[in-house]
Amino acid sequence: MSNNSKNIVLGICAGIAAYRMYDLINELKKLNHNVTVVLTHDAKNFVNELTLKVLSSNNVYSDMFDPKAQSKPMHIELADKADIVLVAPATADFVAKAAGGICDELLTSILIATKAKVYVAPAMNVNMWNHFTTQKNVETLVTKLGYTMIPPEDGDLACGYSGIGHIASNEKILNVILHKDSEAGLLSGKKVLITAGGTREQIDPVRYIGNKSSGKMGIAIADVAYDMGAEVVLVTTTPCDRPYQVIEVEAAQEMQEVVEAEFDNSDALIMAAAVSDFRPMVVSKQKIKKKNEDVTIELTRNPDILEIIGRIKKDHQIVIGFSAESENLEKNAKEKLVKKKIDMIIANDITNKDIGFSSDNNSVILLTKDGGKETLPRQPKVQIARYICNKLAEMFNNIKETRKV
Ligand code: C5P
Repeated sequence: MSNNSKNIVLGICAGIAAYRMYDLINELKKLNHNVTVVLTHDAKNFVNELTLKVLSSNNVYSDMFDPKAQSKPMHIELADKADIVLVAPATADFVAKAAGGICDELLTSILIATKAKVYVAPAMNVNMWNHFTTQKNVETLVTKLGYTMIPPEDGDLACGYSGIGHIASNEKILNVILHKDSEAGLLSGKKVLITAGGTREQIDPVRYIGNKSSGKMGIAIADVAYDMGAEVVLVTTTPCDRPYQVIEVEAAQEMQEVVEAEFDNSDALIMAAAVSDFRPMVVSKQKIKKKNEDVTIELTRNPDILEIIGRIKKDHQIVIGFSAESENLEKNAKEKLVKKKIDMIIANDITNKDIGFSSDNNSVILLTKDGGKETLPRQPKVQIARYICNKLAEMFNNIKETRKV
């Protein structure tokens, strides 16, 4: 095996898309990777073991207690050997078991035992995909277990339905599983400051002015930047436990203080937080009592953190903002990009309930100060985060190139 070749454990579940794995194995073999196929019990209804064995030039496994196992139990043997575990197609049943930590057969047991990177390419009926439990389980796999989803696509499904559920193309799967490794050090040596969540502006000891931001987008960016080797500082209103530095704040002024202090020795700032533009002029020390007349709360402007940073940023520092819009998405975002003197703005339409606040998905437009525009269709926030971090790495490279000239 050459240095770049990987040991790939390919888990195939019982779905019609299983037949596509014949070609995928071929492609992986052509690229010098070593593929070992693990079938779920029911997947045997869809693919032929002998064909898979010949194509992969390896034994095909499905039995927990296979006598072919060497010194270790089969699931440990395969879990330890893998550089990458890819499950494709992944059924709703598999996704549920993996999210719940169930080890009822060889493939699910490997998942629990392995320290390798795990990629999951689901394929199923559109209603099964959209079902609350499937979506919750997918969220667990991504946010709690750190698996990378290769989301299903929109199309005509074998069950006769049309919609999201079609397995991603083999080309897409290859790109994701092989590309990810080359992303590993893209941000190494860079300190990236990221804000997440909605600020809370205190009214009295129990009440505050808040907003709908869940913090998911900012936290996803921080996770990906960390995976890509960056030193990450996350300033967040949504508590989370992470292997990088997390600073919890509540109000905009607190966020401003931390961001200003950390920015000086940072290489980039990504402001994904929804910062309240206003705060109560006076914070009542006591809980405001119910009375018969109306209560008026006077509000005063909060500092615009991004605008302040845009003014002081140095040439080697990159500043990225977000722009949540309910109308004139591109026009308004462009105006903010210029006004706040930042390098890139990520605009999203908050009127679409399927994306944005609290959702695991988003659809955004990336606008850069040099006039660049890229539209990312609806996809998991983690995928969007990867795109943004790749873009950030590209922007660092451009700075380096410009300096050379
Ligand atoms: O002007 P608008 O609030 O729409 O700009 C959104 C961008 O500005 C976001 O990146 C947000 O984090 C940032 N912002 C800020 N301080 C504020 C308001 C917004 O840094 N007071």
